[in-house]
Amino acid sequence: MDVDVVGRVLSTLPAEDDHPYRTGPWRPQTAEWRADELTVVGEIPADLDGVYLRNTENPVHPALERYHPFDGDGMVHVIGFRDGKAFYRNKFVRTDGFLLEAEAGKPLWAGIAERPAKSPRADGWGARGRMKDASSTDVVVHAGVALTSFYQCGDLYRLDPLTLETLGKAEWGGEFPYGCGVSAHTKVDPRTGELLFFNYGTDEPYMHYGVVGADDRLSHYVDIALPGPRLPHDMAFTENYAILNDCPMFWDPELMAKGRYAARFHPELPLRLGVIPRKGTEVRWFEAAPTYVLHWVNAYEEGDEIVLDGFFQDDPEPRDSGDGGYYQRMFRFLALDRMQTRLHRWRLNLVTGQCREERLTDSITEFGVLNSAYGGLGYRYAYAATGVEGWFLFDGLVRHDLRTGAEDRFRLPAGVYGSEPAMAPRSGSSAEDDGYVVTLTTDMNDDRSECLIFDAARIADGPIARIKLPERVSSGTHATWAAGDTIPGWRAADSPAQALRL
Ligand SMILES: [Fe+2]
Repeated sequence: MDVDVVGRVLSTLPAEDDHPYRTGPWRPQTAEWRADELTVVGEIPADLDGVYLRNTENPVHPALERYHPFDGDGMVHVIGFRDGKAFYRNKFVRTDGFLLEAEAGKPLWAGIAERPAKSPRADGWGARGRMKDASSTDVVVHAGVALTSFYQCGDLYRLDPLTLETLGKAEWGGEFPYGCGVSAHTKVDPRTGELLFFNYGTDEPYMHYGVVGADDRLSHYVDIALPGPRLPHDMAFTENYAILNDCPMFWDPELMAKGRYAARFHPELPLRLGVIPRKGTEVRWFEAAPTYVLHWVNAYEEGDEIVLDGFFQDDPEPRDSGDGGYYQRMFRFLALDRMQTRLHRWRLNLVTGQCREERLTDSITEFGVLNSAYGGLGYRYAYAATGVEGWFLFDGLVRHDLRTGAEDRFRLPAGVYGSEPAMAPRSGSSAEDDGYVVTLTTDMNDDRSECLIFDAARIADGPIARIKLPERVSSGTHATWAAGDTIPGWRAADSPAQALRL
């Protein structure tokens, strides 16, 4: 293995930290690595060609009072595959907040579990305001550039998808919605090259929806009127429509008036699903059983209906059962088993205006992905993560066959945790599951991380290749796959590693 530390960031976290989302499998890194010619157990398929990118909440400074794992600074990992070889890089996203806190040597903004009024600085980002835009939630690749984003809305940071250098922020021809920012879970339609997005906030109309063209310029941006401030996290799209949501879990208005932000579930209110033509202005709302949906998997048109798949939560606001310690109780909202997240299908009839819905499985999974070539189209397979009881940690993978209901599972060894997977179609693939599933592990037994590659059609067989990373990486949230032919300069040198040194 050819490895260097190419950067190191000064952390002011306590040496004897006891926060479970800053220690153990969530221990943040301070080093930025360059690693080429990685050690491989098994064989990297020659037709695996492109990059797996994963974002991570990786804090550098302590919280003012109460750290929440979604507050951590964005660190992106890339593992690239070409010609049967792999390279790895990781880098902090150089957000404005990250740079200002590095200069100050301390936290400057309150996190999501703290009151905004506690922020030392009066400015900031986020739907709530006076937060740091950590850009640590999601990552996609649009127009050849990696874009990191923050679930509370903020800038989209532009990163070179190979070197992970921060290239600045999305500007979209000067029309980026600077006031509201953009939420995590922008959607890239590979057929049109468009990026679809939404944002949300505490001022009317409480949401906007927009489209950016393949030319990286804003082509559409409209108000979405909601009954009040809401907390949407994800959206979906079909060939002709975007699907937005108004979930009945939102900040308590009375507490909000006092400067406190606490989400409450309202089982007396429906889930509302908003269908808007992709370049349209009028939203048509459908009502469904109350729940909160953190993530959708996909949507598509079928006859008069839009079929929408996502993860229904049986218990969006789990009660404090008294089990576990302080932190486990505080963060019970992050545990898949406590929220009871199950793959679910909503059918929105555009003629009758009715919504029919059904549970697709009894299994608890979340963080579902698919072969992105099928995004917005009829599809059969979703790849999702299983969770450790009581914690925000992934302990395995499931391939859901949505046609037969079959589930193909792989469970990681005890003490080894996974990342959100990504599906990487094989070069020249012709079938939906003709490709690979890629994830990163955090292995507490051997204090290391590996990248695992599975045959997407045979998850239960276990990884066909394991690639050793130079340092154990922290658990994190979202990941993506970008094929080599979508990345500028991918074939410019004999190997991507060589291109990275040029
Ligand atoms: Fe998310």
